[in-house]
Amino acid sequence: MVLRDTISELNKQELSQLKADNKIDSVLRKIESQIKKGRFLPIIGPEKGAFVYLVTKLAKPKKILELGTLVGYSSLIFAKATRRKAKIITIDWDKKLGEEAKTNFQEAGVKNAKQLCGDATEIVKKLKGNFDLILLDVGKEYYTILLPHCIRLLRRGGILLIDNVLWDNKRMEEFRNELLNQKVLETIIVPIVDGVSLSQKL
Ligand SMILES: C[S@@+](CC[C@H](N)C(=O)[O-])C[C@H]1O[C@@H](n2cnc3c(N)ncnc32)[C@H](O)[C@@H]1O
Repeated sequence: MVLRDTISELNKQELSQLKADNKIDSVLRKIESQIKKGRFLPIIGPEKGAFVYLVTKLAKPKKILELGTLVGYSSLIFAKATRRKAKIITIDWDKKLGEEAKTNFQEAGVKNAKQLCGDATEIVKKLKGNFDLILLDVGKEYYTILLPHCIRLLRRGGILLIDNVLWDNKRMEEFRNELLNQKVLETIIVPIVDGVSLSQKL
């Protein structure tokens, strides 16, 4: 009797997790279908998203910082990978996109994402550290300014993910060198689509 009750309780929990995951998945698919219909939305996308999802699941972060919310696609990946338990702080300076992201979070049942609206290069100065995972995905011209802040805000052993690092231009080439030369980071560049880097703070 007790065992049966326990199993039924576990099934209930598993079922509610699956339902919650499905809600997130359906918003992710909605965003992807908007792109297929021609809307320009530079999301991390399903291929790099699958990588980010797995890294996040393995890292089990409790505090995530995301620079570049857009409409919330990558935040939703973080929410799903952490079973909506991590605190996500996500920054974007575009108010309209922020509103759309908010709607997407509500539709996906995600309540643990805190949105900050403004210039990431200014907001990060006011943030205090100890994030377990950071995603850097704003305008590429800000990567160099933001890298030292990301390092400062990351706890030792924390994970830094940076999108689009294989873009073929001089600015990104210089940034890649800068990233790979950081003594405090152990970094690999993963050649999925246009590249995502994975670093661990030593
Ligand atoms: C590539 S998109 C982010 C995509 C998102 N991470 C995803 O995968 O769903 C970049 C976003 O960064 C924002 N952005 C660019 N530069 C910024 C800055 N300096 N401060 C805040 N937001 C910025 C843009 O408005 C845009 O929404």
